[in-house]
Amino acid sequence: MPVDVSSNGAKGGERVTDALVIFGITGDLARKMTFKALYRLEARGKLDCPIIGVGRRTDWHHETMKDRAKESIEEALGGVDKAVFDRLAARMRFVSGNFDNQGTYTKLAEELSDYARPLFYLEVPPSLYAGIVDHLNRAGLTEGARFVIEKPFGHDRASAEDLQTDLTEILDEDQILRIDHYLGKEPVMDIIYLRFANLILDPVWNRNYVAYVQMTLAENFGVHDRGAFYDRVGTIRDVIQNHALQMLALVTMEAPSRNQTESIRAKKLELFESVRAADPAHCVRGQYAEYREVEGVAPDSTTETFAALELRIDNWRWSGVPFFIRAGKELPVKQTEIRVVFKRPPPTGIADSDLPGHNEMVIRIDPSPGARLRFIAKRPGSDKFEDADLDVLFEKEPGTDPEPYERLLDDAIRGDMNLFTPYDAIDQTWRIVQPLLDDPGELYIYESGTWGPPEANRLVKGVCNWAEPWRPVEQPGEGMLLGG
Ligand code: BG6
Repeated sequence: MPVDVSSNGAKGGERVTDALVIFGITGDLARKMTFKALYRLEARGKLDCPIIGVGRRTDWHHETMKDRAKESIEEALGGVDKAVFDRLAARMRFVSGNFDNQGTYTKLAEELSDYARPLFYLEVPPSLYAGIVDHLNRAGLTEGARFVIEKPFGHDRASAEDLQTDLTEILDEDQILRIDHYLGKEPVMDIIYLRFANLILDPVWNRNYVAYVQMTLAENFGVHDRGAFYDRVGTIRDVIQNHALQMLALVTMEAPSRNQTESIRAKKLELFESVRAADPAHCVRGQYAEYREVEGVAPDSTTETFAALELRIDNWRWSGVPFFIRAGKELPVKQTEIRVVFKRPPPTGIADSDLPGHNEMVIRIDPSPGARLRFIAKRPGSDKFEDADLDVLFEKEPGTDPEPYERLLDDAIRGDMNLFTPYDAIDQTWRIVQPLLDDPGELYIYESGTWGPPEANRLVKGVCNWAEPWRPVEQPGEGMLLGG
């Protein structure tokens, strides 16, 4: 639900964006994501403001930005609709200049002289955020403006706090939109709808019925051309502190009192506060065998490309339930899923020791988002049991839902803060992973194409095994598939 968009909404008057300014438009994120997102928004008729790119490239001008946009969109979508692209290109302007030179901001101020509510999207390394905001402030451009800031917000808990202090010397918290693209994924949003729109789930969604939860964020490729970036980051900072913990919160938080930003944020924060700081003794880090050969990676790098860990939530609903999370590069598949595994029924003589498995609820985020409810059923014509799965696919027409960056940019432009993360939650997520950063422990090398180092199995030992992900099956038909 949009907030802060009314003319008397938030401090500084009307919040609706009247100009979009993108720092780092010449970079990789813009090439891979931003132009495509803007094009899709244009096609849906959702853009109505100029788009000003700012970049250091002195050989770029307005036309270069448009050409790059076209190339990027064609690369991503396999072609462009001329009328849509022309409308988009007509909005585009480019300002060239160094981010640490006040002259760049003077030029930008001229471009923005007719606009009062710009949205600045900082697609630049985090070390530049505070400097850019300071320069914009000196150019008189921060009042009435809002800022979209890419992850990672900080490098650890202390640096996140420093960054927040620097930013809030100039900005109010409600001017800062911290982006985590997982929160813009349709199936991630589905989690709380699924949980709170279906009464039958809540009675069993707690420590009395849930044995453990597994979350997998697997990628079947390496760090490619991002070696220099990744080597300073590693899996824990790259996807656990943000994407994994955000999903954990949605799976485990209490119901918000309303579908409103403040209400959802409050419940998530409460949840994060109940998550026990991670214990290095319950974390296994791995690195795929060829990682050190990647350009930009130190030859003796100890950065993890895989992490498996156990978390605990000390609250009334979840006390005693282990949450196992594994994430990594060069694993067998590209898949993100959350698996809630229920306890076994008590012995009755009907279902005793030969039960093949447990009830499970799997929420598949990617690919082919959906949910699976696993039952145990009697095999026809026998008294043996077998798994029987009830599968629901969320996408009615694959590819038509807004993509994460498209949705988040649209929300940012409209002033809807719901899917952006406030600082207090960021601070909590750093608190949770900080012990793993302070005490990284052993690093195990694993073969590409495997599920990380075998040591990851010791984490779950005595409770479960890591589950094979629920792989999508190509099937005709519409949204819902029932099958065994
Ligand atoms: C990004 C990480 O935030 O998320 C990448 O920096 C990772 O390393 C990516 O590949 C995964 O996103 P998705 O949407 O492809 O699961």
